Amino acid sequence: MKTILVIGGAGYIGSQMVKLLLTTGCHVVTLDNLSHGYRDAVLGGDFVLGDLANRTELEHLFTRYTFAGVMHFASFIEVGESVRDPGKYYQNNVACTLNLLDTMVAHGCPPFIFSSTAAIFGEPQYVPLDEAHPKQPINPYGRSKWMIEQILTDYDRAYGLKSTCLRYFNAAGADPEGHLGERHDPETHLIPLVLQAASGRRSQITVFGQDYETPDGTCIRDYIHVYDLCQVHLLALEQLLTGKPSVVYNLGNGSGFSVKQVIEMAKEVTGRDIPVVLGQRRSGDPARLVADSTLARQVLGWQPQYADLATIIAHAWQWERRHFKR
Ligand code: UFG
Repeated sequence: MKTILVIGGAGYIGSQMVKLLLTTGCHVVTLDNLSHGYRDAVLGGDFVLGDLANRTELEHLFTRYTFAGVMHFASFIEVGESVRDPGKYYQNNVACTLNLLDTMVAHGCPPFIFSSTAAIFGEPQYVPLDEAHPKQPINPYGRSKWMIEQILTDYDRAYGLKSTCLRYFNAAGADPEGHLGERHDPETHLIPLVLQAASGRRSQITVFGQDYETPDGTCIRDYIHVYDLCQVHLLALEQLLTGKPSVVYNLGNGSGFSVKQVIEMAKEVTGRDIPVVLGQRRSGDPARLVADSTLARQVLGWQPQYADLATIIAHAWQWERRHFKR
């Protein structure tokens, strides 16, 4: 039985990954410091409370287990916070990841799946964005992820560490079976905030800017179901385990929805009124981010199961209602 290490397995995407890996019969080890994750979100396998900042702990972990693969979800993800406190982001997202990579090199270089982001591209020069699109991140969060992607290229060349970087566009939705979902604190993402406004946990949703160069003036994003993202991780791991070279994939559904369209869809799905306030632009938001995921579909044979926005919102709504008893 393969043992897979999931770092950040108590978080929003990591916990869904642990659940999916368990269904494949893997032995799953979650490493999480619970700074942003929840112990009850880890639905099985071994749980290790620990931190990538601690090299000694990492050394013990890699001595105790022999990992067939490693997946790393434990990054800080808030763009605005990264601008205010870049040190926090470079420390956690870069320095801690380096601790991990060096430990992996010392323990035989198990294949590595890295959670990257569309934020590495910066302001799009063309849309949809393919893997070759220039990388000019405009905030420390995006730069921290792009640094690791470049470090991984060097580690492959020098040490033979094979990796797959998965550049998520807008991860959204919740566990189709209703057990897991988004619990960020504070929440900054559009879909959970809109649903909090629908359930009454929040009084309203503010639309950040309506003067963008898009048909309705609000920003367009490519929302991808968290379950579909995790499926790509499985496929990517299989590829690396068969000895395929390191690779990067952009991950989205290839269709963009504006903030207003998301709110309208949420009204339809929930059947609730959603109070909307029109606000100022949020700094650092590109007008339009849509992924070209042709490569993942062609090479991995990836086929998203929950590509439509209504289903993504419906699953997130199911979670909002069940978990927060609304
Ligand atoms: N938005 C609002 N009101 C809100 C929250 C968001 O109008 O209360 C808008 C944003 O301005 C943006 C869109 O909704 O136009 C989506 O915003 P999110 O915060 O949900 O997602 P982002 O596109 O900003 O961020 C996502 C990931 C980041 C990643 C980024 C890549 O969450 O981790 O994509 O560009 F860095």
